[in-house]
Amino acid sequence: MAFAYREGALCAEKLPLEVIAERFGTPCYVYSRAAIEAAYSEFSGALGARDALVCYSVKANSNLAVLSLMARLGAGFDIVSGGEFARVLAAGGDARKTLFSGVGKTEREIEQALLAGVLCLNLESEAELARVDAVARRLGRRAPVAFRVNPDVDPKTHPYISTGLRRNKFGVPHEDAERLYAAASRLSGIEVRGIGCHVGSQLTDRGPFVAAVERLVALAGRIEAGGVRLAHIDVGGGIGIQYRDEKPQPIADFVAGAVAALGSRRETLIFDPGRSIVGNAGVLLTRVEYVKPGPAKNFLVVDAAMNDLLRPALYDAWHEIRAVRESQTETAAELYDVVGPVCESGDFLARERRLAARQGDLLAVMSAGAYGMSMSSNYNSRPRAAEVLVDGDRAYLVRSRETIENLFALERTLP
Ligand code: LLP
Repeated sequence: MAFAYREGALCAEKLPLEVIAERFGTPCYVYSRAAIEAAYSEFSGALGARDALVCYSVKANSNLAVLSLMARLGAGFDIVSGGEFARVLAAGGDARKTLFSGVGKTEREIEQALLAGVLCLNLESEAELARVDAVARRLGRRAPVAFRVNPDVDPKTHPYISTGLRRNKFGVPHEDAERLYAAASRLSGIEVRGIGCHVGSQLTDRGPFVAAVERLVALAGRIEAGGVRLAHIDVGGGIGIQYRDEKPQPIADFVAGAVAALGSRRETLIFDPGRSIVGNAGVLLTRVEYVKPGPAKNFLVVDAAMNDLLRPALYDAWHEIRAVRESQTETAAELYDVVGPVCESGDFLARERRLAARQGDLLAVMSAGAYGMSMSSNYNSRPRAAEVLVDGDRAYLVRSRETIENLFALERTLP
């Protein structure tokens, strides 16, 4: 367990979180190297000798230290912007193992990706196909592409993070795919590489995931019968983690389901997981500023807020809150909403939790490694938190806390 109590103190690997708070201050994201590596090896172990590539989805946690860990493990990357691509390259990632996804790639982003030699551009519309073809021809290249096909499968997850339904903006409609592949194969700036899908995020049951892969495999067969060869099948990410009492099927089950759905097909199997790699490998460490009893509710006002961790406010997401120092006095526990200093009623990290906390105590918001820091903002002019990566009993500051000067360094008053 990456985060567990040792002699009453919650630790990241072998290091007490109290020590990290002392050294680096709060709020602070803390990641465990061992947990990240263990999650990655669940994929590689389950894939065994099969021709496959795990492209870590950078949006989940894009810290350079995390990306460099993934690169060293041999992972590829799934990116959705030029900014994420620059991070991958800065962290030592391999462009030739990088997939560029996303519905709104600009000409500049497409050009940079082609010049750097990315593995594949995942196209999400016919208009994008035309743009990529034009950019590639201008550069005298052929762009490696795949279509992200919307499988129209209900992932049974939160509506904001389900992506594979017909009404979602993502992917090309399933019924258009064969026509689009035929069109793409006739374009001189295009080299068809693969096919992909992604049904949604935080899937706990592999059923919808495997159903989508099966639809994709059937489609791949028809596309191939039409004379277009595919080198890879990208089955997306979306594997869920345990936040509360969910019982997500293990990574190995999702992998086995995809491998079985592919059957005898020889294409490279690509996964692009984010949350399942980093989600439970990180916590947000925060300190209680005030205990505020109220007529209807009691509040713990902490120094982290919705700008640091948006998931509770945005998705009503549930994150476990743990006392960093295991409580000796169970009787003092009260029901609290854990809230931040931001001026929004939606600024909460957790609601109605039984906690025994006093002013100055440290709390850990668990399962915050994915879509935590990467979705943070400066709302209310709050400098972003520090990020620390723990390896055994050592802690590395992998992102300094922002300073007040950073906040408006790019701004000017009128002359
Ligand atoms: N591949 C594609 C094409 C995606 O759109 C996504 C996530 C992933 C892979 C990675 O999915 P994962 O393995 O992490 O589930 N901010 C939300 C999650 C948004 C996911 C967007 N797409 C949250 O905090 O729950």
